[in-house]
Amino acid sequence: MSNYPPLNLRVRTPRVTLEAATDELLERLVPVVRAGLVVDGQPLPFDDPMTLYDESPQREWGWMRRVWAGRSRVSAEFWRLYFVVCEDGEPLGMQDLIGRDFAALGTVTTFSWLAPGARGRGLGKEARAAILQLAFDGFGAREAGSEAFADNKASNGVSAALGYSRNGTAWATRRGEPAQLLGWRLTRDDWAPRRRADIELSGVEECRPVLGL
Ligand SMILES: CC(C)(COP(=O)(O)OP(=O)(O)OC[C@H]1O[C@@H](n2cnc3c(N)ncnc32)[C@H](O)[C@@H]1OP(=O)(O)O)[C@@H](O)C(=O)NCCC(=O)NCCS
Repeated sequence: MSNYPPLNLRVRTPRVTLEAATDELLERLVPVVRAGLVVDGQPLPFDDPMTLYDESPQREWGWMRRVWAGRSRVSAEFWRLYFVVCEDGEPLGMQDLIGRDFAALGTVTTFSWLAPGARGRGLGKEARAAILQLAFDGFGAREAGSEAFADNKASNGVSAALGYSRNGTAWATRRGEPAQLLGWRLTRDDWAPRRRADIELSGVEECRPVLGL
């Protein structure tokens, strides 16, 4: 157990566990990052700037620095909770929850990636369902948003499958090239009938004051 409550958060589903991204878990995920997340080709999933596009070993170093920096930047105005997605104890990727002015607005966004070999088996959907349960049930969120490039079928597929509605478009660059993003939103009312009874949250109450709640 850590003395820092965000590092004790855990979300467990029958298929995956989201473990707070401790240094030990980041170390265990490094081989996945080193192997290359975007090696399975086009379309590129991430908008710039993104350390995961860098060459190894700058990729791993930059990725770890981003997590450490994000972990230390915590206030009521902005926080980001980093989780490692584990299947049978094996780290496969990340699932983050981001709150901007959350105490005032109750809105969150999410970010995720899985190792190429772990994709397309429903784990991305399971990890998103898990983080939504933490947001809505654990922290009382009002609405969750998501964005993905229009050609990112898997990420848009996760949002569609979990009941999000389309919410406009935007533009961003990926490796310098402009591309269109699709926006998605899931309100608390849309989520409520889909609430899962088989997802277990731990460490939530202790974490609330850290996030200004
Ligand atoms: C996005 C990501 C986390 C999704 O996880 P995943 O495990 O691959 O997706 P799932 O297997 O849970 O599939 C979710 C839904 O999308 C659909 N889907 C997944 N891959 C698809 C594909 N290549 N084409 C069409 N539909 C697809 C699935 O059928 C499923 O919908 P359904 O439940 O209605 O059948 C994962 O693909 C990934 O890491 N991608 C690269 C990084 C990335 O894009 N991150 C998000 C940036 S916005």
